[in-house]
Amino acid sequence: MVIRMELGPQSYDIVLERGALQKIGDLLDLDRKVLVVTDSGVPPEYAKTVAAACKQSFLVTIPQGEGSKNMDNFTLLLSRMLEEGFTRKDCVVGVGGGVIGDLSGFAASCYMRGIDCYNVPTTLLSQVDSSIGGKTAIDFNGVKNVVGTFSQPKKVVIDPDTLKTLDQWQLHAGLAESIKMGMTSDARLFERIETSEDLMEDLPAIIEASLMVKKQVVEQDPHEKGLRRILNFGHTVGHAIESKAGGALLHGECVALGMLPMSAPSLRDRLEKVLLKYDLPTGTNLTSEQLLPWLLHDKKMGKDTLTVVKVKEIGTCLMEEVDPRTILEGDWDA
Ligand SMILES: NC(=O)c1ccc[n+]([C@@H]2O[C@H](COP(=O)([O-])OP(=O)(O)OC[C@H]3O[C@@H](n4cnc5c(N)ncnc54)[C@H](O)[C@@H]3O)[C@@H](O)[C@H]2O)c1
Repeated sequence: MVIRMELGPQSYDIVLERGALQKIGDLLDLDRKVLVVTDSGVPPEYAKTVAAACKQSFLVTIPQGEGSKNMDNFTLLLSRMLEEGFTRKDCVVGVGGGVIGDLSGFAASCYMRGIDCYNVPTTLLSQVDSSIGGKTAIDFNGVKNVVGTFSQPKKVVIDPDTLKTLDQWQLHAGLAESIKMGMTSDARLFERIETSEDLMEDLPAIIEASLMVKKQVVEQDPHEKGLRRILNFGHTVGHAIESKAGGALLHGECVALGMLPMSAPSLRDRLEKVLLKYDLPTGTNLTSEQLLPWLLHDKKMGKDTLTVVKVKEIGTCLMEEVDPRTILEGDWDA
């Protein structure tokens, strides 16, 4: 199936298909120099399959993990392209999770003021969220995603079969982003995840529904000026927990925790059951005092208030300006 992201001159196709990786040469224009970027945790055959389909490929494998989304690796990718004589007509393909997508997309968007970039996401988080929408970034001076661009990919190829090698911890953390999209925008998606008896079997449909949510939001607000913030549901408290937890929890696990206080009390039991079904956390030992400083530094913080996304009824959401102190007190109507 092909989902078209309609963004005027920046429009592109998202191909979602089991086995798509095996026919990557038919899906992408690889008849040029191609920098194939992957990391050491991604099964090497995925990037090798892409490289084998290129006219002239240059494979770069960086160490796995968030720590690789840095200036050194950004420089490494740019240097390699320059050394190999890449021109504006050449391209980059990122094969991996959100780390690879963000880093390779950023390098492609800067090299010669921007060359084509294709995403081949291989984690659930990257397939439902980070590979589409055009946000690219690296972490800098200890601040996550602080240097980057809005730059849409040329095409995204999603092969759910690549998720078979992903460990369950990562899979479930990625699912938290789909639960989030169900909560804010698609009650049927939420129910599908809630009632699924075979997650691997249901993944293509879950990915498709999640992509439709993200597509609609990005099309209306490509530069995150307003509506796109609904994708931040669960992220305000989630980011505070992630910063404080220092790597002990995956991003999706922090989002899971962050969704609970932003959901109406009447929904929390139901949300908690779904989170527990997928081994996602529903409680933390961190105290309000420990989290408050991180909330006060949130980039969405206005003068005294923070814009948060709340869900009162599954499938719909609203944005509210709140005093960060009240969030952690669980003061729903504040
Ligand atoms: N640009 C955006 O809009 C956006 C949105 C959300 C998150 N992000 C970013 O995404 C990143 C997180 O992405 P992630 O959760 O995909 O993490 P990740 O890229 O670190 O991948 C997680 C782990 O899975 C391994 N892996 C990847 N594919 C695999 C596969 N098919 N089989 C086995 N192992 C595999 C990787 O080597 C890595 O160790 C963060 O840096 C975050 O800031 C970006």
